[in-house]
Amino acid sequence: MKYFATALTLAALATAAPAPVPIGGVGVRPNDTAPVYHTMSDFDFQSLNLGLNQEWIELDLFNYGVSRFSEEEFAAAGLGPDDISLINFMANQEVGHAELLTNILSAYGRTPAKQCTYRYDFETVRDFVNFCQRLTRWGESGVYGFLPHLDSRPSAQLLLQSITTEARQQMIFRQFSGAHPMPVYFETGISQSMSWSLLSQYIVTCPAENPKIDWQIFPALNVVNDANLLVDGYLANITHNRTSLTAPGRTVQFSWEAPGKTTSYNGTYNTTVGGNVTDLVPKYAAWISQLNTTYTELNVSSTNNFSATTLQPGGTVFNVTQDDGIVNGTMFVALTTENPYVTPYNLSLLNDVIVAWGLYQAD
Ligand SMILES: *[C@@H]1O[C@H](CO)[C@@H](O)[C@H](O)[C@H]1NC(C)=O
Ligand SMILES: *[C@@H]1O[C@H](CO)[C@@H](O)[C@H](O)[C@H]1NC(C)=O
Ligand SMILES: *[C@@H]1O[C@H](CO)[C@@H](O)[C@H](O)[C@H]1NC(C)=O
Ligand SMILES: *[C@@H]1O[C@H](CO)[C@@H](O)[C@H](O)[C@H]1NC(C)=O
Ligand SMILES: *[C@@H]1O[C@H](CO)[C@@H](O)[C@H](O)[C@H]1NC(C)=O
Ligand SMILES: *[C@@H]1O[C@H](CO)[C@@H](O)[C@H](O)[C@H]1NC(C)=O
Ligand SMILES: *[C@@H]1O[C@H](CO)[C@@H](O)[C@H](O)[C@H]1NC(C)=O
Ligand SMILES: *[C@@H]1O[C@H](CO)[C@@H](O)[C@H](O)[C@H]1NC(C)=O
Ligand SMILES: *[C@@H]1O[C@H](CO)[C@@H](O)[C@H](O)[C@H]1NC(C)=O
Ligand SMILES: *[C@@H]1O[C@H](CO)[C@@H](O)[C@H](O)[C@H]1NC(C)=O
Ligand SMILES: *[C@@H]1O[C@H](CO)[C@@H](O)[C@H](O)[C@H]1NC(C)=O
Ligand SMILES: *[C@@H]1O[C@H](CO)[C@@H](O)[C@H](O)[C@H]1NC(C)=O
Repeated sequence: MKYFATALTLAALATAAPAPVPIGGVGVRPNDTAPVYHTMSDFDFQSLNLGLNQEWIELDLFNYGVSRFSEEEFAAAGLGPDDISLINFMANQEVGHAELLTNILSAYGRTPAKQCTYRYDFETVRDFVNFCQRLTRWGESGVYGFLPHLDSRPSAQLLLQSITTEARQQMIFRQFSGAHPMPVYFETGISQSMSWSLLSQYIVTCPAENPKIDWQIFPALNVVNDANLLVDGYLANITHNRTSLTAPGRTVQFSWEAPGKTTSYNGTYNTTVGGNVTDLVPKYAAWISQLNTTYTELNVSSTNNFSATTLQPGGTVFNVTQDDGIVNGTMFVALTTENPYVTPYNLSLLNDVIVAWGLYQAD
């Protein structure tokens, strides 16, 4: 009986006083402003509209890959009917992501991007899945880079819930490529200009009403001796222990484009270097992966200002375990004129000193 009385008293107390919310936090109390899932600034609109352009190409790409190749061609890459269905499902996920972003962006009578036409340069299933793991890499990282900077936290919540799905797509395409699924401890974030620079080159035409994208497009950086993720004998699988594709101390050769090139859809855009760049000859390679931006000195060719070498850096994120190399996975590399110290939350400040921008296939 005594036990019952205590339980009843506790129950009454529980109804009378809601669990306290520790001091701080935004939008977590009943009397806080109700969330509105709209963009709140040009920064928000341009960031989310860039995200929408990324979702549209993924939708096109996944559908195109499935329609372009036969079941036999997929089988030769180690991919069966269930795997093809998974790619189909991923395309449908993109329909949902595009719908979500369109809804957020449509507020205040604004016009979000519609789907465009694209160009791809793969000819085999293996090259298709490899391209998908590269494209989803910058799609995923491009959103991580701006999510915590958005003015609209409610919109960030929704975008977060779609980008975590994209992260799974990226990992699955690495598995489909016969690679280690996630050879890093942390997935890096990059700026909007950094992801737009990689995406823009694959868009051919867009409807006239598509909003102009205000982010920069950096001149393309080519890793002349980039490793190929596709290794003979390693077909699609959950994971593979493979010999690392690259290692610290490797001589890496770069070539890059001069700024001022017309690019992307309808010849609407030009490539430009960072706002602080005065001398077009870069001094550093910036290696961007995990939590780190690491610089190495460039050896620019004496006969060609658009060609250079450097040595791949070593080092780990934390010196505790030794398999968290700061250069690993599908990652990013910039050529820069300065070597400012930047951390994940202020990486976009690097934009100002970039001369060329690209991907590096470390593993
Ligand atoms: C909201 O409610 C909390 C208690 O839950 C109270 O401390 C606070 O003053 C209220 N804020 C406003 C703006 O009414
Ligand atoms: C791009 O070109 C296509 C095909 O000519 C045209 O339909 C479309 O309106 C153009 N879009 C822009 C943004 O100029
Ligand atoms: C996947 O890996 C398992 C275990 O390592 C192996 O037995 C299997 O043959 C592999 N499958 C393919 C398609 O390579
Ligand atoms: C795979 O690699 C890990 C780490 O390099 C090693 O500990 C493990 O023994 C390897 N497993 C096999 C099956 O070779
Ligand atoms: C691209 O840059 C060139 C040279 O500065 C300029 O003539 C051209 O108008 C620019 N094109 C666009 C689309 O901005
Ligand atoms: C770019 O130039 C501005 C203005 O001079 C300066 O404040 C900023 O620190 C520079 N950015 C970098 C990354 O060097
Ligand atoms: C720079 O490159 C040149 C030409 O490849 C080479 O001779 C020279 O040793 C390199 N210098 C350094 C510091 O790596
Ligand atoms: C490389 O660029 C520098 C600085 O802009 C210039 O002085 C030099 O003539 C260029 N060299 C070559 C080979 O283009
Ligand atoms: C990588 O970033 C982490 C987190 O900021 C830092 O603690 C570590 O020292 C960095 N590692 C290297 C090799 O720069
Ligand atoms: C990393 O830790 C090892 C000991 O575990 C130490 O010998 C080494 O100097 C450390 N390296 C750095 C860069 O701190
Ligand atoms: C990349 O990650 C893989 C998987 O953990 C590891 O085996 C390899 O040593 C790493 N490579 C580098 C260059 O750190
Ligand atoms: C970026 O943030 C770090 C602190 O996390 C700060 O030390 C650094 O100066 C900042 N970089 C720039 C270019 O402002």
